[in-house]
Amino acid sequence: EPPPPLKIMISGAPASGKGTQCELITQKYGLVHISAGDLLRAEIASGSENGRLAKEHMEKGQLVPNEIVVMMVKDRLSQTDAEQNGWLLDGYPRSSSQATALQGFGFHPDLFIVLEVPEDILVERVVGRRLDPVTGKIYHLKYSPPETEEIAARLTQRFDDTEEKASQYLYICFCFSRKVKLRLKTHNHNIKGNRPKEEVFTQIDTALSEMLQQRNTDPTST
Ligand code: AP5
Repeated sequence: EPPPPLKIMISGAPASGKGTQCELITQKYGLVHISAGDLLRAEIASGSENGRLAKEHMEKGQLVPNEIVVMMVKDRLSQTDAEQNGWLLDGYPRSSSQATALQGFGFHPDLFIVLEVPEDILVERVVGRRLDPVTGKIYHLKYSPPETEEIAARLTQRFDDTEEKASQYLYICFCFSRKVKLRLKTHNHNIKGNRPKEEVFTQIDTALSEMLQQRNTDPTST
């Protein structure tokens, strides 16, 4: 019988590089990328009442209330593609109560990755971030510039990408991730995120390959 598909969670401060690394991880491992932030932005775009409430919090750099986030993530994780291919959950949980809720629904990650990046660098990343509305790809004016003039001309900025949000949100983020780690009782892997994105990915790739290899030799270990 084939081993069950991988279930990974990735956490880190705003602009620590979660979305960028998730693109690289899904390309190699074929997991379904589920981003709490993307789910919320889709909810806002749909014009729903939950979307309107979520936007109020996101604009201030605050966490969106659990009543909105928890069920949204649970529903997405329960879809067939995620169950069959495995998932890569990005930006959830962000509090120990969110971690508890997920476990209560029977979702147990194999690995919890935390991207560690110093604060001054995070602010620079937020301010320079741009998105391609056509492909969804993440760019940075300095570190990951667009490949062509045509792409450069259509890049957009996220509504919540302000320097003010970046610094305000950091503190909450770090103390939560410590509590979340304790709560989840899973394999943790801290990654140094203050390096070029390819080098950050090499660290993650090594952790994932080691875990898969360990599973193959001892299927009861994970
Ligand atoms: P979310 O969308 O999750 O935003 P975030 O945590 O602020 O994370 P980001 O998407 O900003 O950054 P990232 O880590 O993905 O970095 P990226 O790869 O883009 O959440 C948005 C909001 O939704 C939250 O503020 C909150 O209000 C709400 N929310 C979300 N989840 C919630 C939850 N569970 N509960 C309650 N509320 C929730 O990279 C950033 C930039 O840096 C890019 O320009 C990139 O090109 C560049 N870059 C990336 N890696 C490198 C590198 N190695 N070197 C140089 N540049 C790099």
